[in-house]
Amino acid sequence: MKQLIPSIYYVGVNDRNKERFECLWPLSSGVSYNSYLVVGKKIALIDTVDVRFFATFLDNIREVIGTRPIDYLVINHMEPDHSGCIGLIRQVYPDICLVGNKKTLQMAEGFYCQSGPSLCVSEGSELSLEGMDLRFYLIPMVHWPETMVTYEPHSGTLFSGDAFGCFGALNGGVLDSEMDVEPYFPEMIRYYSNIVGKYGTQVQMALKKLGGLDLRRICPTHGPVWSESIGRVIAAYQRMSLYEGEQGVSLIFGSMYGNTLLMAESVAEGLVKGGLKNFTMHKLSRTDPSYLIADAFRFKGLLLGAPTYNNGLYPLMEQLLSDLRHRGLKNRLIGCFGSFTWAGQAVKHLTEFATAPGMELVGEPVEMKQGFTRETGLKCQQLGEAMARRILEAE
Ligand code: FEO
Repeated sequence: MKQLIPSIYYVGVNDRNKERFECLWPLSSGVSYNSYLVVGKKIALIDTVDVRFFATFLDNIREVIGTRPIDYLVINHMEPDHSGCIGLIRQVYPDICLVGNKKTLQMAEGFYCQSGPSLCVSEGSELSLEGMDLRFYLIPMVHWPETMVTYEPHSGTLFSGDAFGCFGALNGGVLDSEMDVEPYFPEMIRYYSNIVGKYGTQVQMALKKLGGLDLRRICPTHGPVWSESIGRVIAAYQRMSLYEGEQGVSLIFGSMYGNTLLMAESVAEGLVKGGLKNFTMHKLSRTDPSYLIADAFRFKGLLLGAPTYNNGLYPLMEQLLSDLRHRGLKNRLIGCFGSFTWAGQAVKHLTEFATAPGMELVGEPVEMKQGFTRETGLKCQQLGEAMARRILEAE
């Protein structure tokens, strides 16, 4: 339990056991499920936690309010990492009133057969806790259609759900001002790009809607509570939801026997020769896709290389392109290279991706037949240099 300010408490938990979030995204540093108590004369609990942590969660709540009942459970988001304890909370607090919008309450009934006291709220609805007030704003598709945020105007506190959240358990502290936040920012990009990245338009609408609020702290459902870093996290969300990349490149390649890898090495030499320092290099078979998606969202430039496979594209690259298309990635500068042994297909597919609407093909695609040669290396270097120049002039 942590008191954030008088009347607002953190009662969330850390999960350091789960291997993959949504059984998809690796959690190298765990994840937190954040929940908060707002205590006026009446008490509201904002969201719950993963059901496996109910005992710890209830302990955290009781440490704050002892045997007092909870009047309201505000459900900002129904994904089970936050809604998982609704049924158990209601067993402990049978008179608790579930607060959500029409879609939320339908989902609560569908997931947890909840049919007790409830309060249906809509855009701009207010709820007095007698001493603290809660106001609700709907932000559909950030991350599900029912998603909303809750704002407490006296303290300038926004309970933002998944928005502004990140992977990474909380190591002792909760507030950004009491920790080194740097490790959380790459994990915010990875969280956003993989989980919410498809919904850039809806995130933009949410940012506009919340833009006029006096924000002194943002309390998301994952990761640190933002106070002194509010400007930075909002700027990150602005950039990512507009699909704007920073001045840099991610060089992502697949290689089965090392020939396409040698092409990638030459492309990287070209980047350096062109004066670019800010780039990452990933071999597809060694890097989890969530990090590739994150880097594709992070950087303005993408250099993609792969062999031909089964008369098509190397499967791991095919999967990556599908992941990026599915998330609507755009505004990228893209260079391509690839290889084949008897019939070239990889470069054709990569070039199709690089010339889709919203993308710009940079340099000459390099296609290699069979083994790596000095001549191929030179062309790859030229591709890297062209990308470096284009990226540096883009700013
Ligand atoms: Fe953290 Fe969309 O749930």
